[in-house]
Amino acid sequence: MKKVLVTGGLGFIGSHTVVELQNEGFEVVIIDDLSNSSIDVLDGIEAITGKKPIFEKLDLREKSDVEQFFKKHSTISGVIHFAASKAVGESVEKPLHYYENNINALVYVLKEMIGLEDSNFIFSSSCTVYGQAEKMPITENAPVQPAESPYGNTKQIGEEIIQDTCKIKSDFNAIALRYFNPIGAHSSAKIGELPIGVPQNLVPFITQTAAGLRDSLSVFGNDYPTPDGTCVRDYIHVVDLAKAHVIALERLLENKNSSNFETFNVGTGVGSSVLEVIQSFEKVSGESLTYKFAPRREGDVISAYANTEKANNSLGWTAKSTLDDAILSAWKWEKKIRNL
Ligand code: UD1
Repeated sequence: MKKVLVTGGLGFIGSHTVVELQNEGFEVVIIDDLSNSSIDVLDGIEAITGKKPIFEKLDLREKSDVEQFFKKHSTISGVIHFAASKAVGESVEKPLHYYENNINALVYVLKEMIGLEDSNFIFSSSCTVYGQAEKMPITENAPVQPAESPYGNTKQIGEEIIQDTCKIKSDFNAIALRYFNPIGAHSSAKIGELPIGVPQNLVPFITQTAAGLRDSLSVFGNDYPTPDGTCVRDYIHVVDLAKAHVIALERLLENKNSSNFETFNVGTGVGSSVLEVIQSFEKVSGESLTYKFAPRREGDVISAYANTEKANNSLGWTAKSTLDDAILSAWKWEKKIRNL
């Protein structure tokens, strides 16, 4: 049984990926500092898979702890690195916290990995690296644009650091997955997204509003040059995204990669506007959502959706769930955690 380290494995995307890894027969070790996650997620993972992953509470900014961890777990054959801070607005206010948490931690993990025999690395990147791309849908060849926030910058710098590491070690293999907008929850509603405080992202804000935690959703901007004036994004079900990680890791373990650093867009290829997301929510939930139009949010791009041909053809991965499926799963999860 191959052993895989999942950093940030109790977080939203991390926990869903741990489930899919265990379903595929991997032995999983999770590192998480619990700064933006709950230890109860371990029970959720066990309830779904019948198996509790190994867990170590560890702060990856502590270099000596990272060294100790890799000494103890020398048989790891792959690392999926999620652990990072991810709030765009907060990153503008606390840039050094973001660089320390997202960059130092990455460097410490990579330093240990280049000492391993089997070094296979999957990195959580983001479509934010493309900024406002000129052409839709966005291919992996679209130019990386100057980052709009320290958070976005950590994803760009992170990719560069990994690429430079690949250059010095030809048997260090890495894949950066550039996520579009992950939403939804596991169909069992035993794990899902747990935003701390007021959600910044659209779908958790919608489900919390419908659950009565928020009065009304503000739709940021209705005068964009899009069919209905609201921004367009590519919303991908978190379980589809989780499966892409497992397939990417298997590609590296089976030496099927075409170079030792590859990037893949992970999206559905379908662009949906904010109003379409609201309509989808109202349709699948049977609830009506209170919302109002508000000014544009600073830093938002007009439109971003993926060309997924590279992932479809090279990874043999395709998103299976529709927007409706993903929104319904997010709503089931919200109802479950609010006892509705
Ligand atoms: C955001 C981040 C992105 C990050 C991603 C992680 C910004 C500018 N971008 O993407 O870097 O990788 O989250 O999930 O924050 N919206 C509303 N009302 C709301 C919330 C959102 O109208 O209360 C709109 C936004 O204007 C946007 C769309 O919904 O058009 C999606 O927003 P969001 O879920 O925050 O994702 P992104 O901004 O695409």
